[in-house]
Formats: sequence, C-alpha cells, structure tokens
Amino acid sequence: MERDFPEDFLWGAATAAHQVEGFNVASDWWAAEEAGLLPHRSGAACRHLERFEEDFELARRYGHNAHRLSLEWARLEPRPGVFDAEAFAHYARVLAALRARGLEPIVTLQHFTLPRWLAERGGWLASDAIERFARYVAEVARALGSGIRWWLTVNEPTVLAKHGYVTGDWPPFRRGRWDLAMRVIARMIAAHESAYRVLHEILARPLVSFAHSLPWIEPCDPGRWRDRAAAALRRWFLCDSCFWLVRERGRPLLDFVAVNYYTRSIVRWRARGRALLFGVDCLDPHHGDRRRFDELGQEVWPEGLYRTLCRCARLGLPILVTENGIATTDDGLRIEHLSEHLRALARARAEGVDVRGYLYWTLFDNYEWARGFTAHFGLAALDPENGERRPRPAMELFARVARSGRLPRTEEAGEAA
Ligand code: FCB
Repeated sequence: MERDFPEDFLWGAATAAHQVEGFNVASDWWAAEEAGLLPHRSGAACRHLERFEEDFELARRYGHNAHRLSLEWARLEPRPGVFDAEAFAHYARVLAALRARGLEPIVTLQHFTLPRWLAERGGWLASDAIERFARYVAEVARALGSGIRWWLTVNEPTVLAKHGYVTGDWPPFRRGRWDLAMRVIARMIAAHESAYRVLHEILARPLVSFAHSLPWIEPCDPGRWRDRAAAALRRWFLCDSCFWLVRERGRPLLDFVAVNYYTRSIVRWRARGRALLFGVDCLDPHHGDRRRFDELGQEVWPEGLYRTLCRCARLGLPILVTENGIATTDDGLRIEHLSEHLRALARARAEGVDVRGYLYWTLFDNYEWARGFTAHFGLAALDPENGERRPRPAMELFARVARSGRLPRTEEAGEAA
C-alpha cells in the first residue's frame, strides 16, 4: 500500500536534559530553584540520568527510529575550562544506548540552561560567552561527535530572550528589557555560527541548525492596520529576526531548518505598556467558536504547521520538525492533535516541502520549566509516586504511523482514543 512518509523518515520524541535527567546541580536553573526564585523545583525530575536505557527501550518499542536529547553543558563543564570526564563517559553511554536500539540521535548542545558560572558572569551577554561555548562544542565534537549527524546548537533563542529578559519569569529574571532580549538573540545566533564552524571543522559532513520556535502569527482584524503592524512586529521579533541574523553572504548558515511548532497567535494592537511591541493575544470568538486550547492556553491549530513548513521551505533547505506537541491529560484531544498535525505535515510534503522527520514533544511528562510538573506533554504519563512511564493512547497511534509510514485513518484515530 502506498506510504504517506518515506522509509527513512525520522520518527521520535524530543527531550531536554534539565527537564528529564534530575539533579542538574551546576546549572543556573538549579541555583534559581534553590534560591526560591522559581515556583517549582526540578529535583530528581524523571530520573532519566539513571533510567535512560529503559526510556530508549520504550521509544524503540513504540516505533521510534530517532530521538532528540540535549547534552547538559553545566555537567560537562561544571567549572570554567574544567571538563568532567565522568559526565562525558555518561553521555557516551547514552549515545551508545540510542545506537544499540536503532535510534538516530539528534543532539542539542544548549537547551535553555547554562552553567551557573557562566550565568554569574552575565550568561549569553558575558563578553566571553561565545568563545566559551565554542570551546565546549569543540570538546563535545571531539569526544562524542563521531557518528552524530544531526546537531542543534542552541534551542529557541527568542523564547529564552522573551522569558529571561522581557516577561522575566525565567533566569536571569529581567523584566521589560527588550534591548537586552534583542542582544541575547543576536549573541545566541553568533554562538550558533561559531558552533556551526567548529562542528564542520572537526566532523565529516554534520547537519547543523538551531531549534527555532515558530508560532504562526496573524492579525486579529486584517482590516485594521494597527493589528497588522502589531502582528508584523511580533512575527519579525519572534520568527524572522533569527533567520535574518544567521545569514552569511546572503545565505543562511544552516544545513537544515529545525522547526518547533505549537500554536498560532492572533494579535491585536495595544498601545500601552510592555505589550506594546507584541500587541496582545486576541481570543475573540469570531475566529471560530471551535477554537481548542491546551493546559497552557496555547491554541491547537494544525493548519499553522502546514503554513509554517511552507514558509520555511523558501529558505531552500531540508526541514526537521524538532518539536510539536500538546499539554493535556485528555487522551482524545492528544490523538486529534497528533493525527491532524501529521496530516498537515503530509500535505506539506505532498506539495514538495522537504520535511525529513517529526519529533514529538515529548516522550513522557516532565519538568516544564516555570510550570513544573503541571503541564502534561508526554506520549507517556509519568506516575508522580514511582516515576513509572505509562504510555497514553496517542503513543500507540504514533507507533502505528511510524511503523507503517501511513497516516491514521479517521476511524483509527477515533479507536485509539
Ligand atoms: C519548548 C521548549 C521545550 C518545552 C516545550 C513545551 O519551547 O523547547 O523545552 O518546554 O516548549
């Protein structure tokens, strides 16, 4: 029977070290959690540090052939210039465990957390941050890099900048500092560029990108120029600035585009306060009374994935969906979300958009940053008592699609729910 996705399509889940490993004690997040600056502590998280083999086994059993993980810079370089041999040995075991199960590693080098020592010097704004990052990346490439094809240098510069420097709910807790947010984005893109060069120097033909958060952004009332302006400004700041910055002699310094897609935002102009630059989100029902939202208040809007992929295709590079998922405990809604997003993805591919893989956020419920364990993004649920991973119905559906390369039929999507 005809396939909707090719044999070599990458199917997997995405995770990040701080959210799953536990006891990330040398990081800036841990310091902030201990100091009571964040509402939730990560603590033992999901104990993935010890349970990684079991977790990869779960992924393999459910049809995954790839897995996105992050290496924790704070573990690998707990003090400036001092690299921890045991931490390197740990990640070597992690990568071997993936390979042993036929899971293609997709490796993120920095996913939101920073070593505490760097945060104390100003984080991404420290004068030597980029140089330090490049040294860390070189160590990783030499010690662990052979055989890793897919690399993500940094994760979501705009999201880190927004939470750390505008809304101020994440380290380093600065509020309303658009100027610093813009500088952080520029620094993280510069960090990406130097890591890109380091990886290409040390390794043979790596595929390097950074993971970019790409919400679909549109004006609340397309007939009002103020709404259009607010949407355009938000789109520029959150989506396009990074692509614009990463250009070198007119071409993007990327080997593929890494798309994290969750939601759309409908923007209305508001002329006062911190919202000025972004406008405000409009939840107006005239945009459809069947609008669906997840636990975090993010709208479920699969059409946005299709449009985002088509928009990214203009860069002329292969695309990997490096995150897509929903925070919910409603199994029916998760199934709907998954099947509709896969359809959107297949539609983009059928029209010639070169998407190479789909990584679901995430394998099991985990520490969702400032939301702690209150957001449920997992294909598997996490038992808070004993940490047991319990596959949700959507995980079965994911397995069927990954194994067959075929979209779920409508009745199948219903049955799994
Ligand atoms: C993304 C982050 C990821 C996770 C998901 C829900 O912005 O990259 O760590 O928190 O959102």
